[in-house]
Amino acid sequence: MKSGLLSQLESVLNKKYILSDDESKAPYLTDWRKRYTGKALAVVLPANANEVAQIMKICAATSTAVIPQGGHTGFCGGATPDSSGNQIIINLKRMNQVREIDIANQTISLEAGCILQVVQEKAAEQGFLFPLSLGAEGSCMIGGNLATNAGGTNVLRYGNTRDLCLGLEVVTAQGEIWNGMKGLRKDNTGYDLRDLFVGSEGTLGIITAAVMKLYPLPISQWTTLVATQDIASTIALLNLFQKRATSLLTGFEMMTSESLALNQKHFPHMANPLQGNPPNTILIELSDHESEEHVKQLLETILEEAFESGLISDAVIATNLSQANSFWQMREHITLAQAEEGANLKHDITIPLSALDDFISQTDALLRARYPGVRIINFGHLGDGNLHYNIAPPPGIDFKAFNLANEKPVHELVYAQVERCKGSISAEHGVGQLKLDGLRAHKGEVAHDLMKAIKKALDPQNILNPHKVVSI
Ligand code: FAD
Ligand code: MLT
Ligand code: ZN
Repeated sequence: MKSGLLSQLESVLNKKYILSDDESKAPYLTDWRKRYTGKALAVVLPANANEVAQIMKICAATSTAVIPQGGHTGFCGGATPDSSGNQIIINLKRMNQVREIDIANQTISLEAGCILQVVQEKAAEQGFLFPLSLGAEGSCMIGGNLATNAGGTNVLRYGNTRDLCLGLEVVTAQGEIWNGMKGLRKDNTGYDLRDLFVGSEGTLGIITAAVMKLYPLPISQWTTLVATQDIASTIALLNLFQKRATSLLTGFEMMTSESLALNQKHFPHMANPLQGNPPNTILIELSDHESEEHVKQLLETILEEAFESGLISDAVIATNLSQANSFWQMREHITLAQAEEGANLKHDITIPLSALDDFISQTDALLRARYPGVRIINFGHLGDGNLHYNIAPPPGIDFKAFNLANEKPVHELVYAQVERCKGSISAEHGVGQLKLDGLRAHKGEVAHDLMKAIKKALDPQNILNPHKVVSI
């Protein structure tokens, strides 16, 4: 143990907020998927940016590595410490205050430890929509969302977390506080520090607060499930909705029959209301600010056109909020069903929509030829070209044994197709430790060297989440 570090931390924080015994630290050491478990010297729970800054000063003076942590729901091991036992976890959950909702400016200023769902609720109480929405919203925190530039189900209308962020407060590796808490939609004053920290996964600074955009709450939302037979008609359907519904289209999610079969196995009450187990079930949501009748009619007209042109073979429109929620539940439960089934090989990728059909047909064929019986759990935010293209062993084969033997070649096969189609190897989950090794090849040397130069400039001691995203 580093001599005196814990007692120095005690000069900043009450002892009860410095967790150093094994039992208290345990809940912070394993990621949501249970893929990574690390050790930590201590888990510290600061109450404000000043405390975070003082902790960082102590860590800088003692060259102690720090792991920023929110809800620990990330999929890339970014918030999990290494196995040395020398790192400090700074968990921000006590920093959970909404500082201000500015009605005229349509912004919310809040601390990094606010739970996403609470932010949505606070915004709704004031008649606003905070549009970021994802399956982990009951436990992920806004600081984690910003640090991973999280996506979710509303991106095609409102953008990802980066697009929702106007200002930040950040503690640097040296323990300085940068106050960039401005709610400005225009600010052309040189390098954009905000955009540098968003998506940096705790490697450049610790986000302690943010100013985020709010939107008017829609008056009415209509949700439908439709069946498509192939990817080409699914994309034609998306284009039809984009043309006819324009900005009223707020959700377009795809679930393949294999993904829903997994749901059905682990959550039998999650039955697909569409008949005949279609190859693709598409969840579409329209949101309107005019009237319930207006959006309902629009949805019906577009669906009629889609039927007539043969793009869809079946449709169910939710007739009430609870049915609409059950459609969304079915979509969100795929991740939970995968976790129940076993740790599959995840690929969170984006492909240009024009290349999606080619990507899926070629990659499916290559995988099935090399690994007969392999299960491809393909679902995701199709409206953004974002697939969760996950690979599970053939039924009856042990996950651990399959992954041990095949993880590397499966990733190589899938990512080679991603590169061929000019896609990205991380659409919304980030890099963390999971994709650290593949990043140089994917970004190219120049981009990767620039990233390293930025990391070295901001964190020359390499104490902020070392060996995540880039190694220097
Ligand atoms: P953590 O997991 O605690 O941390 C993630 C990264 O951010 C780490 O590198 C950590 O060091 C860093 N970090 C955390 N807080 C800070 C801070 N204050 N300052 C600096 N760095 C920080 N993600 C999506 O994008 N879209 C989805 O649809 C989606 N669905 C999900 C569904 C489920 C069921 C689950 C479990 C996860 C899902 N995720 C999704 C992944 C995850 O929820 C997001 O990545 C989320 O943004 C992580 O937030 P967190 O607070 O849990 O961050
Ligand atoms: C989701 O969209 O549900 C998560 O990002 C997905 C996942 O499990 O890969
Ligand atoms: Zn997702």
